[in-house]
Amino acid sequence: MTHDVVKDTMISRASCRLFHSTVTCLRKTPAEKRWVARQLRDPFVKAAQRENYRCRSAFKLLEINEKHKFLRPGVKVVDCGAAPGAWSQVAVHQVNATGANPEAPVGFVVGVDLLHISPLPGAAFLSRSDILEPDVQARIQRLLLGGEAHVIVSDMAPNASGIRELDQERLVELCRGVLCLAEKVLCAGGTLLCKFWDGAESNLLRNRLTEAFRDVKTVKPLASRKESSEIYLLAKHYYKH
Ligand SMILES: C[S@@+](CC[C@H](N)C(=O)[O-])C[C@H]1O[C@@H](n2cnc3c(N)ncnc32)[C@H](O)[C@@H]1O
Repeated sequence: MTHDVVKDTMISRASCRLFHSTVTCLRKTPAEKRWVARQLRDPFVKAAQRENYRCRSAFKLLEINEKHKFLRPGVKVVDCGAAPGAWSQVAVHQVNATGANPEAPVGFVVGVDLLHISPLPGAAFLSRSDILEPDVQARIQRLLLGGEAHVIVSDMAPNASGIRELDQERLVELCRGVLCLAEKVLCAGGTLLCKFWDGAESNLLRNRLTEAFRDVKTVKPLASRKESSEIYLLAKHYYKH
């Protein structure tokens, strides 16, 4: 099969999934119907299907990196909460993890998630693994061959319980886990990108990051829905103690 045929097949599979969701939508709750309608309207969902990304969130990382340029050929990346794998697809490409560009240095991507992550050339995945577990953090260190990562990205979110305070508390715990991982594997001068929800706690996390990094910014890419309180904290120039 030619590249175009493979791509077309993938797009039509994705369209089928959406069509299937639309048809079964007839039996869905009003909230589910709203979700399907929003997916059908969303230009980032369409672009993700067209460009063969595993989900629309790819465009968040692409946009943040386009502006802040922390993913470059040769860079080693840890992707926390990697499933289904769109951020890892972006990272693999940007760091030249498959060696597609023979003239550029080759990077490496390690992805971790509680869920299964389908294999991706250029990335090593730890599926069904909890980033908060010390044993999982030790496995990440081993995958980095005892070396360090230049970049840690986290798009992790807890499963929504519907209780805002509880969800916020869990997200804080996840961010603490990412910081603990940074202490173990992030190199001096390294970068951390971490999803958070805007609110009182975000200032506390920002302060915590400011103690560990020289430059901390809040970023909200276009692909992050306006109505969502999701923001990203981008921390650069890690002070390694
Ligand atoms: C928004 S999705 C990530 C999407 C991903 N960035 C992509 O582009 O494909 C958030 C992920 O965080 C994962 N997650 C939540 N808590 C986690 C934990 N303690 N350890 C590892 N992954 C976790 C969830 O299972 C979920 O797959």
